[in-house]
Amino acid sequence: MAVKVRKINVTVKSLDSGALKADVIALSLFKDTKVLPKAYRAMDNLSGGMLSQLIQTGDFKADANKVQVLYPVGMKGVSRIILVGLGAMAEVTADTYRQAAGAAIRGALELSAGTVVLDLCRISSAKSDLESCGCAIAQGAVSGGYDYEDYLPAARRGKVTSLKVTIAVSDAVEARQFSKGARVGASMAEGQTLARVLANTPGNEINPPLLAARARKIASQSGLKCTIYNDKQLTQMGMNAILAVGQGSINKPRLIRLEYRGAKHAGVDVAIIGKAITFDSGGISIKPSQDMDTMKYDKSGGCAVIGIMAAAAQLKLPLNLVGLIPSAENMPGGGSYRPGDIIRSYSGKTIEVLNTDAEGRLIMSDALAFGAAMKPKAILDIATLTGAVVVALGAHHAGLFGNDDRLIGKIKAASERAGEPMWPMPSGAAYLEQMTSKMADLINTGGRSGGCCTAAAFLKEFVGKSSWAHIDIAGVADTTEAKPWRGRGATGYAVRTVLEYLRSGL
Ligand code: BES
Ligand code: MN
Ligand code: ZN
Repeated sequence: MAVKVRKINVTVKSLDSGALKADVIALSLFKDTKVLPKAYRAMDNLSGGMLSQLIQTGDFKADANKVQVLYPVGMKGVSRIILVGLGAMAEVTADTYRQAAGAAIRGALELSAGTVVLDLCRISSAKSDLESCGCAIAQGAVSGGYDYEDYLPAARRGKVTSLKVTIAVSDAVEARQFSKGARVGASMAEGQTLARVLANTPGNEINPPLLAARARKIASQSGLKCTIYNDKQLTQMGMNAILAVGQGSINKPRLIRLEYRGAKHAGVDVAIIGKAITFDSGGISIKPSQDMDTMKYDKSGGCAVIGIMAAAAQLKLPLNLVGLIPSAENMPGGGSYRPGDIIRSYSGKTIEVLNTDAEGRLIMSDALAFGAAMKPKAILDIATLTGAVVVALGAHHAGLFGNDDRLIGKIKAASERAGEPMWPMPSGAAYLEQMTSKMADLINTGGRSGGCCTAAAFLKEFVGKSSWAHIDIAGVADTTEAKPWRGRGATGYAVRTVLEYLRSGL
């Protein structure tokens, strides 16, 4: 990967290939386990019955992602066991293992372990799909291993700069299937980490030209084609909505275009478009200062697209993809665009600005129209678009909109497999009515009611007849709360989902 982060190296090993040595071995138990699982008996014997005693006493409740460190005596090569709770067996999903792996890795990092064996899934009877289990565990390990610590003093940073993770399975047949899934899962999660690294970087370090420079470097390291349109070129192209949003900042806007060709045919299969407002002050319609710092995350959609494109190349997906990242800094100033301005957008549609804080839909409208002109089979967009979606769905689902129920269904299913829940939301003609202007084609805000639905209806006007899905990640893109299985800050939401969708063959 193109950024400096803690390296998490994931491999799969069959337990019959010899004794495993590690700083930590992670085991897991379901809630209400009465008998020690067969898979752990050998280890129990080595540790003088420590595990069976733990089950007998019932001291470890095995609530999901609860972690307990044990110090076995008599186990050569293993100094610590981390027990991870899996919750109720009846509720097990891929996410159970993804999160448990993350919790185990974070527990191990806290102990400054450099090598970890994850022996989490040999106890499950539901082993029908070993490949996706391997994928989920690798994802959990890689994403659990990332923390944003760039500016922390050494004393408050994790000691471990590189971690060797071995997923333990029972035999060589299992190892083959698990490895396949784990390789894919690790690549997907590395794309997610890339998105998180970029999104966590503050506005003084990433503005549109600097984001473009980062994208160019990542592209060259990943084998992607990269084209950057600067403000002069955007003017020539008529990308007036992107330009309007960026005109109040000394950091001029850019449109970043990434291309990946994995298929022989000439056309574009999927265009993926991500909002990258490197800082959203609201502009002249300035935001309240409370929590304004979190608006550095307003570039999360664009960062997700960069992560998706890099991972798609690493996974060698058999598709032709275009990533488009419109980027601007939304600032108040003497040069800013104003409420009342009317913009002739790239599509030719005119937009009356009522609120300069509804800037995301403006930059997205130019990029969507640009992407639609490439006639892709599908357009996906990812944006921290509205506060309204946060009110509607909180931090537990992204909002999912679009004009094609089949595509929406596929993205929803992919989001479930990826452990990034998304919920289908309405949009369409009735909401669009709220967005019509007396002086132009559209206004850029339709008021408070149904704010995320009206925003989606606005975007729909720029995709033409393309099959299109829009993911509003405003509520899920960042968090101040660390979970047992992942750190705080940018989440990289939607990276795994879109890769999962692309991998499943449109
Ligand atoms: N970037 C914000 C949306 C947002 C809000 C993201 C909260 C993350 C957390 C977007 O540009 C915005 O300001 N939207 C306004 C639109 C309104 C003025 C119509 C909003 O949702 O309040
Ligand atoms: Mn805004
Ligand atoms: Zn914004």
